[in-house]
Amino acid sequence: MPEQATPPQPLAPAVVILAAGQGTRMKSAKPKVLHEIAGRSLLAHAVAAAQQLDPRAITVVVRHDRDAVAGHALELDPGIIIADQDEVPGTGRAAQAAMAALDGAFASAAAGQGQAEGPVVITASDVPLLDGATLAGVLEQHRASGAAVTLLSTLLDNPTGYGRVVRAADGSVTGIVEEKDATDEQRAIKEINASIYVVDADILRAGLATLTKSAVTGELYLTDIVGYANKAGLSVNGVIIPDPLTVEGCNDKATLAKLGAELNRRLINKWMLSGVNVIDPATTWVDVTVELAPDVTLEPGVQLRGDTSVAKNATVGPDSTLTDVSVGEGASVTRTHATGAVIGAHAEVGPFTYLRPGTVLGEKGKIGAYCETKNANIGANSKVPHLSYAGDVTIGTGANLGAGTIIANYDGVNKHKTKIGNEVRIGSDSIIVAPVSIGDGAYTAAGSVITEDLPAGALGVGRAHQHNSPGWTAKRRAGTPAAQAASAATKATTS
Ligand code: UD1
Ligand code: MG
Repeated sequence: MPEQATPPQPLAPAVVILAAGQGTRMKSAKPKVLHEIAGRSLLAHAVAAAQQLDPRAITVVVRHDRDAVAGHALELDPGIIIADQDEVPGTGRAAQAAMAALDGAFASAAAGQGQAEGPVVITASDVPLLDGATLAGVLEQHRASGAAVTLLSTLLDNPTGYGRVVRAADGSVTGIVEEKDATDEQRAIKEINASIYVVDADILRAGLATLTKSAVTGELYLTDIVGYANKAGLSVNGVIIPDPLTVEGCNDKATLAKLGAELNRRLINKWMLSGVNVIDPATTWVDVTVELAPDVTLEPGVQLRGDTSVAKNATVGPDSTLTDVSVGEGASVTRTHATGAVIGAHAEVGPFTYLRPGTVLGEKGKIGAYCETKNANIGANSKVPHLSYAGDVTIGTGANLGAGTIIANYDGVNKHKTKIGNEVRIGSDSIIVAPVSIGDGAYTAAGSVITEDLPAGALGVGRAHQHNSPGWTAKRRAGTPAAQAASAATKATTS
């Protein structure tokens, strides 16, 4: 072991994320690690955990669906180093590719510090519940124990399929045996290898150089690093994670759903403990990226996705799906499907309301039942209460759109903009044909088709005058119940 002359700061780790496996059991055209739970891909969960270690470098090992996986990794973090695994299979080969790709990161660090290289944290790309705090704890234990290799394990009632952790009488880890290579006695071991390791870089490099292909599978096993360390007289520390789900890998869609539900349960629990009222945790789903303030209430059947935030005392639900929506303090959002919208403080939305991107509703505004909005900037205290469509429109403050108002923004080829001023009253069932501008305090008559600008304070009437034909029902619908009713009414008023 190199002499570690009490460095002022522990050396930052490099993180290796293994993502070159095929993921055939997902039975999907989409690469396994791009499947999502809680609004993040499996790979993004691994990267987020890695980032919390403040690493010197993160490398993602790719092979199957190489471009899709590498492209996604670089979207998550452009600083990620992509390591390409060749046709030689196995986790050991993947680690070799990672160390080759990391050479630059270690070389510059070593040149700068003139000392040991520090630890490498190796994780899988399909262990979405492994959080940064757990990983940081293991790294801490690795440093404190002085072990050359630290591996994560857990205890499973049914360990079938996993590598088993073999320990000596004194508890030290002597090896990992894959299921197919295990003796009956070893198969009875319930402690399994989680495939997450911390290894000092120089030891990892030396150990990887000794790997030989399995006679059974032709794979290079990363797990053989444990045997190498033992032979070299280096200590191996096995950290048992008490909750198996934290280190459970995701191989098929049933497990994806199970881990998704568990992660959601953990997120909801965290929010409830921070003061959010969740009426029915089982039907409430939140992405990891969502922000909720204390005294928010989430009614049953709510899904909050992406960059959604809800300010204090606001209520969302029941039965609402909000994606990238900001909900202001004290607002209420009921049975609503909304994307890319901003809902002001104390505003009301719903029920049965569809907010599309670019909707901005001012303080104390309202978008009510059976309304759809898109690119609609609706000022404070303005209301679109019933059965309306408002697209590509700016509405001032204190305005009211009557029931059934349509802002006709599309001429079949192009979209046009509408401007509606402060304190405007749009009569029920008006069609406002864009582009058009309606001045402050103007009114439109119910049933109008407004095609021309309306000055401030004017009444716009855009409909035919009503013409009555007396006695029409008796003449043209003689003998019908309508004619009888009309006749009775006429007699009553003339007698
Ligand atoms: C591996 C471990 C086993 C452990 C299990 C936990 C080995 C030899 N065995 O088993 O002890 O109990 O994980 O789930 O390591 N990968 C690559 N390149 C490859 C093969 C795999 O990058 O050539 C990646 C996969 O994308 C995945 C991870 O390595 O993220 C683990 O691979 P997987 O095939 O799921 O693990 P097993 O070989 O079943
Ligand atoms: Mg495998």
